Amino acid sequence: RTVYLNGEYLPETEARVSIFDRGFVMGDGVYEVTSVLDGRILEFTGHMNRLTRSLNEMGMENPLDESEWLAIHRRLIELNDIDEGLIYLQVTRGNAGDRDFAYPPADTPQTVVLFTQSKPGLADNPAAKSGLRVISLPDLRWGRRDIKTVQLLYPSMAKMEAKARGVDEAWFTEDDLVTEGTSNNAYIVKGGKIITRQLSNDILHGITRASLLRYAAEAQMQIEERPFSIAEAQAADEAFVTSASAFVLPVVEIDGATLNGGRPGPVAARLRELYIEESL
Ligand code: PDD
Repeated sequence: RTVYLNGEYLPETEARVSIFDRGFVMGDGVYEVTSVLDGRILEFTGHMNRLTRSLNEMGMENPLDESEWLAIHRRLIELNDIDEGLIYLQVTRGNAGDRDFAYPPADTPQTVVLFTQSKPGLADNPAAKSGLRVISLPDLRWGRRDIKTVQLLYPSMAKMEAKARGVDEAWFTEDDLVTEGTSNNAYIVKGGKIITRQLSNDILHGITRASLLRYAAEAQMQIEERPFSIAEAQAADEAFVTSASAFVLPVVEIDGATLNGGRPGPVAARLRELYIEESL
């Protein structure tokens, strides 16, 4: 695989970063994951806007402009012959020399890394037909989940816990209300209405979420942005998640309670179709 590191396209085995990089010692960096379908990048501007926002919230400048980022994405798709897959982008505060909690001087070069992951079956995902089974876990992440930082230890622990319990995914709760999934936004459907938590610092502002809600509104579907509990979700008609890698995936079980007879519901199926159609 050919990857991008600080202005160069290199074989992955030759891409090296310093052990003093703050991304490595402090988790001091942000990332984006963008999907590729039929060789085309989905939601590019949305991801770039969120990247700039994450960087700004961390007191970092965006090292490149949108057209430069786009050129790198396109080049990596070409070099790695990606038809369906993901592009991972990470910007860290760079090599600060000695370890220090204080940020290094603002002119310290950031470390910019991008790589592709080929994922045939992104659109034709079997989970769209089988649905996901989820468990709830307390949301023990920090209070700025709106910043897409590389600090993903707790979501990883939650995924492992879900796996250990024989299910697919975990939904986080805080004060008895669902915040979001480990790496996706969470929704329920009741009486045809789509319900999802409103944007705040408590959740990541999903790019897929923003577009899906727009497409749903254009299709005259009803939307309510408010928190919901696990009990309300278990009594819902349907549930689903969204992310750049999942698009829209139905949820058929929450903490052992089955939704819609254990089958993906019609609203989630329609939204998945609508999303793929509209975002291509
Ligand atoms: N995760 N919430 C969290 C905590 C996430 O990590 C993600 C994305 C989302 C969905 O955001 P978007 O629709 O912009 O992908 C919500 C990516 C896919 C990941 O970490 O792999």
